[in-house]
Amino acid sequence: MSLILGIESSCDETAAALVTSSGKILAHRLAGQEVAHRPYGGVVPEIAARAHVEILPALITGVFAEAGIALADVDAIAATAGPGLIGGVMVGLVMAKGLALSAGKPLVAVNHLEGHALSPLLSDPALRFPYLLLLISGGHCQLLLVQDVGSFRRLATTIDDAAGEAFDKSAKLLGLGYPGGPAIERAAIEGDATAVPLPRPLVGSSEPHFSFAGLKSAVLRAYESGVYRPVDIAASFQQAVVDCLVDRSRRALAACEAPTAFVVAGGVAANQAIRGALAGLAADHGLPFVAPPLWLCTDNAAMIAWAGALRYERGMIDGFDAPARARWPLDPAAEPARGAGVKA
Ligand code: KG4
Ligand code: ZN
Repeated sequence: MSLILGIESSCDETAAALVTSSGKILAHRLAGQEVAHRPYGGVVPEIAARAHVEILPALITGVFAEAGIALADVDAIAATAGPGLIGGVMVGLVMAKGLALSAGKPLVAVNHLEGHALSPLLSDPALRFPYLLLLISGGHCQLLLVQDVGSFRRLATTIDDAAGEAFDKSAKLLGLGYPGGPAIERAAIEGDATAVPLPRPLVGSSEPHFSFAGLKSAVLRAYESGVYRPVDIAASFQQAVVDCLVDRSRRALAACEAPTAFVVAGGVAANQAIRGALAGLAADHGLPFVAPPLWLCTDNAAMIAWAGALRYERGMIDGFDAPARARWPLDPAAEPARGAGVKA
């Protein structure tokens, strides 16, 4: 059994964790930067990178103190090496390289998306490869067949906005604040999901991908018409996203051979309406539905340490020249989606 220090700094969460290859989380700490970014209505890369520099050392010291162990006790150091905001990724990766060099430990450069993709194995040890994963976060919206550690087949991606991006932008349009996902979910509870007619882009389409830009524009038009209550727009928007996610996932389930489970991960998976609808879809297909606990769905370092542990156990370690990458697709062989090539 090995013990891994994991570091996450690819967006606006700074995090450190100690996790074993048997899936035991010895300690994990996370500092969000919501307060710093809220005045701007979104994450400001430069502010995020500076905040990671300030916060990360105390988080790392904190997890070692909590677990009662020292740097010398870990087997390897894993850090997110991309995809993400490049300044932040560099902060975490360089910190990991420095620690690894000084302690004479191997480095594992982890793809943030693989962290999300393998996180369900941490919360649900009975889960087996291959499973169909719907990864829905602020930067990504993908359907992936997770075949093994380091082995993914991308079945669908977004041709414009990610699901979380659609939540964040729509919340901003509706004046609901940042981050938008939780704000829309709260507002939607008060609203009528059938009140506002909104499009379901690509639903029923023969192409496998997602699209949310048209939905966001329709939210703006509905808001500017002055006809609808913001809570009704929020509820109708959330329902439209649910319908898109369910339709695209149903198509992927029909297209991939014998997945053992239908799994959802990423920050948007915190949404209860979305979770409920996806659980129903899995049940329709006679598949177990797996969703990590909320804290493990949003960005965290435990999933990075865990992916690092699985890679380390397989001898997948990296050189100290491992690059920080703004883009890093999990399935490099996947065809670019129409009009895209911009999202990892
Ligand atoms: O995975 P994550 O923490 O960071 C990225 O790697 O992007 O996901 C953050 C995204 C944000 O867009 C946020 O608005 C969304 O997840 N989100 C939600 C909810 N909680 C967070 N979206 C919908 N409903 C929620 N309850
Ligand atoms: Zn993420």
